[in-house]
Amino acid sequence: MSEVHVLGHPLIAHKLTQMRDKNTSSADFRRLLKEISLLMSYEVTRDFETKTVAIETPVCPGEFPRLKNDFFTIVPILRAGLGLVDGLLELLPEAHVGHIGLARDERTHEPVEYYYKMPPGVENSLIILVDPMLATGGSAVDAINNLKARGCKNIRMVNLVAAPEGIKVMQEQHPDVDIYVASIDEYLNDAAYIVPGLGDAGDRIFGTI
Ligand code: PRP
Ligand code: URA
Repeated sequence: MSEVHVLGHPLIAHKLTQMRDKNTSSADFRRLLKEISLLMSYEVTRDFETKTVAIETPVCPGEFPRLKNDFFTIVPILRAGLGLVDGLLELLPEAHVGHIGLARDERTHEPVEYYYKMPPGVENSLIILVDPMLATGGSAVDAINNLKARGCKNIRMVNLVAAPEGIKVMQEQHPDVDIYVASIDEYLNDAAYIVPGLGDAGDRIFGTI
């Protein structure tokens, strides 16, 4: 069973409340999402292994920790996942970025893929899949199916807001993928929107409401 990490840091909670407010502008929404992704990346990388390397400081030689694995790929699910990329890249500047384009069909709520591009050798990379919203879980499950079909084994998922329904589906379909989330909300409404949620994340990020 995968682990679900709910990141209850007060700054994350404070900024998420501002994002939920329907009067928050797209400019502020984007800024807050980036700030939260920076804060979340601290927890998402907490268990990264280190190895000891020998270097010389200006004062003396010594042995110090460095990351053991430095092949990371941040994979946003387009469009809304793009809003989480810059914060993660600030802490992991050497990371590669792959893209998966998925859009939910408004009638069936099923995801439809329209783009897929990964760096070479992605199957050997640690993948951080990012999408602000985990609603039915259809988009996340589909994205991970695609990544696994191309040989990816080491995947973790970062969401801002999740519905209990989406968490359940993810744990059933991909029990090896840990989830990092700022809030697990109450339920999905008839239009498969998260309640209370924050509305359509992609529309709010890009001002397409
Ligand atoms: C939203 C969101 C997720 C998906 C979540 O994207 O960013 O990708 O819906 O819903 P699910 O868990 O029920 O699949 P959307 O399809 O609206 O596309 P967009 O990012 O281009 O707005
Ligand atoms: N996608 C969103 O952007 N918001 C939701 O509440 C559900 C899916």
